[in-house]
Amino acid sequence: MEIIRSTQALSDDVRNEILFRGDLVVFCQIPALQALQGLLDRLVRQTLGDWFEDVDVYSSDFSARMAALQQRFNVMPQTRELFAHALAQSGMDVTRNFADKLFLRCVPPTENSQAQFRGSIGYHRDTWGSNIQQQINWWTPLYPISEANTLVLYPDYWSKPVANTTAEWSFEAFREARRLARSQSSDAQIDYPYAPEAKEAINSDNGIPILIEPGDLLCFSSAHLHGSSPEPRSGFRFNLEMRSYGAKGKPGVTPPENIDNAQSEPNYHWFKPL
Ligand SMILES: [Fe+2]
Repeated sequence: MEIIRSTQALSDDVRNEILFRGDLVVFCQIPALQALQGLLDRLVRQTLGDWFEDVDVYSSDFSARMAALQQRFNVMPQTRELFAHALAQSGMDVTRNFADKLFLRCVPPTENSQAQFRGSIGYHRDTWGSNIQQQINWWTPLYPISEANTLVLYPDYWSKPVANTTAEWSFEAFREARRLARSQSSDAQIDYPYAPEAKEAINSDNGIPILIEPGDLLCFSSAHLHGSSPEPRSGFRFNLEMRSYGAKGKPGVTPPENIDNAQSEPNYHWFKPL
């Protein structure tokens, strides 16, 4: 797996040709992302205060502020617009691509951070959830990150099947569990996995932690096995993420093969035109 850093825009076909063979692309310092980072830095500081580096992450005050942060983020119309601009600046033809919701992930330096605030997440392929093989992931940190708390990819599993829960996981069951948690309290745990999970032990020895700067935009095939740093140890991680797929590209740009997903129907309805 090669990480290609690009200071130039790449067309959908050129980028996908790289991603579909398992390599990664990092678009360096995208202007619209720099603007979005400034906007969200203000939101984070207004909501969490400047204290978030040494806060007690188990306190109810912390949970309430994290819930407020997600709520405020979700109603800011400029975020999706600026992210779409960033995708266009990376070379994407936004008139021919579909994307899911823009997510803000907040991972405190603790184990078992709460799924309700989109905390740390275990080993998975995003294609296990959507069942769309041509889907790709976009990812950018809001603050400087370290190996101790970031996104980790496991290229050893690119062409190696992993036993997983795709046969039994359901999005409807997740939604129901989330609704139940929210009806109990702002910091109740969701009693159902957020996405299908690996059912076998993963050899994490050769995991590649992603280290890029705020303003950089990473993209990778959603068929890559990945997850949060196994034990987030230091520093908060705030990142934005989105998934997309495009209209059929030129012949020869073939999505990676499905090697271990038991679902039959693709979940195209999670995505909207950009
Ligand atoms: Fe993921």
